[in-house]
Amino acid sequence: MTAGDRRRAGADGNGFETLAIHAGQEPDPATGAVVPPIYQVSTYAQDGVGGTRGGYEYSRTANPTRTALEDCLAALEGGARALAFASGMAAEDCLLRTICRPGDHVLIPHDAYGGTFRLFDKILSSWQLSYQPVAVSDPQAVKHALAGRPARAVWVETPTNPLLSIVDIAAIAQLCSDAGALLVVDNTFASPYLQNPLALGADVVIHSTTKYLGGHSDVLGGAAVVADPALGEALAFAQNATGGVAGPFDSWLTLRGIRTLAVRMDRHSQNAARVADMLAAHPAVAAVLYPGLPGHPGHETAAKQMRGFGGMVSFRVRGGAEAAVAVCGRTRLFTLGESLGGVESLIEHPARMTHASAAGSPLEVPADLVRLSVGIESGDDLLEDLRQALR
Ligand SMILES: Cc1ncc(COP(=O)(O)O)c(C=O)c1O
Repeated sequence: MTAGDRRRAGADGNGFETLAIHAGQEPDPATGAVVPPIYQVSTYAQDGVGGTRGGYEYSRTANPTRTALEDCLAALEGGARALAFASGMAAEDCLLRTICRPGDHVLIPHDAYGGTFRLFDKILSSWQLSYQPVAVSDPQAVKHALAGRPARAVWVETPTNPLLSIVDIAAIAQLCSDAGALLVVDNTFASPYLQNPLALGADVVIHSTTKYLGGHSDVLGGAAVVADPALGEALAFAQNATGGVAGPFDSWLTLRGIRTLAVRMDRHSQNAARVADMLAAHPAVAAVLYPGLPGHPGHETAAKQMRGFGGMVSFRVRGGAEAAVAVCGRTRLFTLGESLGGVESLIEHPARMTHASAAGSPLEVPADLVRLSVGIESGDDLLEDLRQALR
């Protein structure tokens, strides 16, 4: 079966859980292996010059294990094509250098992953790509910014890292379409199980597959999924030309994680909702940022565009920065560390860890903020761990 056949096999109306297990993952035609093999290979025999078997000639251009992952991702996001990269940042960089040219302008969120800001601020700015931070949770602010200066693209995250703000994807997609800008949605926090931005009008979905898609904190990866096949071609060309591809073993691990994404996300969301409720009633906590809480400013939009509210919870600690840092040091089950989306719970202090690169910028995060990646351990144990850390 060729890569193209496998891509089409996903688009047959099956449910999410079925696609996660089967899209791009037909039993191996040669052996019947039910899991796509790890094609740990760089090059492929040709039957005469140009006579490739299934289109494979060199693994930077395409590799069957990566094709399986890409076809699955395209099916899960409802895209025309997905490309799998070595990391989320590799996907972001390749996408931006595919869709933008020096001199272009991009709107970015006020509130986003610090590494995304660093890419715009420290790398692509010297490529003459200008950026403007905008409160993308407010469609009026986006409309105003687009009217002020034409933008090639609007970049949003929803929910955002680490403040869990919500962006109305359909509303921003309409504004982008009116203004001739592409809408890119970083869907890392929600995962395709909870939210499908392309169905809401976005042009591109970005993932750090390192997070919920991989799901086990054992692999780095990234993906870009596009609605337009022509953009998919351009991105594949740039990916091959620049080379930041996902390797075969990393693709295999990510695909292995994806098969259980639905059940994991349900449990992440359940545990996170319990954690958010407990924290909201705790005297040591000044504010809880979780889109599942009815008082969250984005709650209604999240309820409209997400299938659940996800596993990420942030909160502000009474007592300021030092108190927040101290809480991070006292948990026993929540491991102090960067990253998120794995089965195990993690805790971190964004201002000094994941978002240190945004210090002094419009994307700086509050110093009293703690971010939790709520895992799928027993909910009671997680609540008890946080209670003792806040005591
Ligand atoms: C929302 C978001 N986007 C992108 C990235 C970058 O992904 P990676 O670390 O896989 O390069 C991260 C990493 O934490 C992230 O949280």
